[in-house]
Amino acid sequence: MKAAELVDLERGRVHMDVYTDADVFHQEMRKIFYHTWVFVAHESELAFPGDYVTTYIGLVPVIVSRDDDGGLNVMVNRCAHRGTTVCQREKGNANFFRCEYHGWVYDNQGTLTGVSLRRGYSEGELEHTAIGLQRLPRVASYRGLVFASFNSEVQSLEDFLGLARRYIDDWADQAPDGQLAVQAGGRYQFEYDGNWKLQTENNTEGYHPDFLHQQAVRVQVYNSERSRAAAGKEARARAPRIATMNSLGKDLGNGHNLVETPQVSLILKRRYPPEYLEELATAHGVDRVDRVIGPPWRLNIFPNLALGGSNIRVVQPFAPDHTRVRQYYVDLPTAPDAVRALRREQEQSFYGQAGYGGPDDVEMFERMQEGFRSADADILSPWLLFNREVTGEKVGPDGELVADSTSEISQRSVYRGWHHYLSAGDAS
Ligand code: FES
Ligand code: FE
Repeated sequence: MKAAELVDLERGRVHMDVYTDADVFHQEMRKIFYHTWVFVAHESELAFPGDYVTTYIGLVPVIVSRDDDGGLNVMVNRCAHRGTTVCQREKGNANFFRCEYHGWVYDNQGTLTGVSLRRGYSEGELEHTAIGLQRLPRVASYRGLVFASFNSEVQSLEDFLGLARRYIDDWADQAPDGQLAVQAGGRYQFEYDGNWKLQTENNTEGYHPDFLHQQAVRVQVYNSERSRAAAGKEARARAPRIATMNSLGKDLGNGHNLVETPQVSLILKRRYPPEYLEELATAHGVDRVDRVIGPPWRLNIFPNLALGGSNIRVVQPFAPDHTRVRQYYVDLPTAPDAVRALRREQEQSFYGQAGYGGPDDVEMFERMQEGFRSADADILSPWLLFNREVTGEKVGPDGELVADSTSEISQRSVYRGWHHYLSAGDAS
């Protein structure tokens, strides 16, 4: 079966091989991760000359650096001599990277500036300009989000982001003065024995929270009832359910999608101090406050980024059945302390190894991969179902597809994007 045939878009079915097959994984690296734009950093992590972070594009380790001229560079973290990674740290500030194996040195634009025991090379055997750290040909940023591509012919970043741009605008405008600080409060990292797309699907899935996270919801309700009782207020009715919140799922094209819960704006407007709401209204207009506060959605930028109100999540595939996820807290350094404290509390309580919600999802990923391991097409159906409301999708005002958040529209969006990339070149 060709990879593109593993996704049945019309019926909303996905073949289990997309999670387990080594050749499919290899094609994903080539046709998605080394072909289109991949998120690598937020500009707040690279505020000063010399700042750098290390990450991966697919399986390739890369360094993202701010050079002395203020430019952004993305280069392969692999020594031109014999391939050793030249930087082991996750972030830092450096003008040079020195490979520890034989001591070759590169500047923070990737140029080879020093070779140890140089006398061992004859004239012309070393061309410094030609054998530095390999630089990626395309680097661009949108509202502080930095992306890179190995493909010099890739479409513009604006076109790639398409309809997702207005949501990124909301996300970037959640601070009245536009200041966001990614990593300022640290980050969570976890690895799981499962495919990378399990996290990508889950990022914007509105079907599971009422069930998988019911304990988390109970804790939240318990805490809020205690605060109400302490303030002398009456107890309220039962816990809210996503299924009855009129929240939406949207397919924004190119594999990008979101789940949107407008009630989040109402809740935050009650909890945040009025002066903060006024600042947002002054900066962005009264009409946009509901959109930027929170913001009230979670957005997937295919293939490796998810944005939420107080975090960004980066999915990093290592093997068909092994994935690393890094989730960075997003601070608003100039917002009132009360707003910052609430955001931190929300982030810490739900996510992370000790959170009361995030680990539930990771457990599901490993259980799913266990289910896929036992797949044998001769005795079991290899197809998984993504067909909730597959016939109920409507076209929204901007051309996006819209359905209820408990439908699987956002997950179908992931596989529409996936299919688009994986089917490239199949006809030849
Ligand atoms: Fe880097 Fe030899 S592998 S200097
Ligand atoms: Fe979840």
